Amino acid sequence: MAALKNTPPAGAPANAAEARPLHVAIVMDGNGRWAKRRGLPRSLGHRAGVEALKRIVEAAPQMNIRWLTVFGFSTENWSRPAAEVAELMALPKRYFETDLARLEREGVRVKVIGTDEGLSRDLVKICREAETRTAKNDRFHLTVAFNYGGKADIVAAARKFAQAVAAGRARPDDLTEDLFEGQLMTAPYPPPDLIVRPSGEQRLSNFLLWQAAYAEFIFQDVLWPDYSPAHLEAAIGEYQTRNRRYGAVAPDDALATG
Ligand code: IPE
Ligand code: MG
Repeated sequence: MAALKNTPPAGAPANAAEARPLHVAIVMDGNGRWAKRRGLPRSLGHRAGVEALKRIVEAAPQMNIRWLTVFGFSTENWSRPAAEVAELMALPKRYFETDLARLEREGVRVKVIGTDEGLSRDLVKICREAETRTAKNDRFHLTVAFNYGGKADIVAAARKFAQAVAAGRARPDDLTEDLFEGQLMTAPYPPPDLIVRPSGEQRLSNFLLWQAAYAEFIFQDVLWPDYSPAHLEAAIGEYQTRNRRYGAVAPDDALATG
């Protein structure tokens, strides 16, 4: 029913002021500037960025975060110089080589979302292996958006539904927001409660477009390689001061209008 579409997700506490975000998404930004400030090549900024990711993945479950989705490579990043693209392509391997065994052991389920188009066969294999080896885990969910674009995610979902209609398995009227959301690459996970972007940039950059509909946005003035659990805790603190209404009015104001 359309009237239900803006209700809080199941499990969202009534007292939003005290609620902690269960799903946090991060645009890992600022690696290049971090390197430049140190007179280092951008590649070293990206490597330092992987170390920051390790710190955050380790700390997040202790902050009661259940889902963490990070933007590692966007479909627009192909326009960077070839050497930098090559360095970025090497990052999943760099990360999983050192950390996959620990992630597996510690109950982390890994998913890599995006398109395989343009990725080497080796890289696709590494990503699929990370998913298979952790498929039984359920304690914490790490989604790495790699070669991901929010528009492409939506188009792929639309295409899946169009194909179902063409094959006679669905009718156009069957399409609902829930059904559509279930076709997105992030399914079946809930949408992010909080989207964080460090480095001072204040835009979504084609990250989780649909999924961001009711997310809180927090922009932080720190470059991703310097990002620490304390920065994430600060973002959560700010999130807790926000008043999420999902398009409704606060209960007190609703009474006042009566
Ligand atoms: C984030 O750091 C990594 C990716 C976008 C892949 P950047 O490389 O964008 O760093 P800045 O924005 O140039 O500092
Ligand atoms: Mg950037």
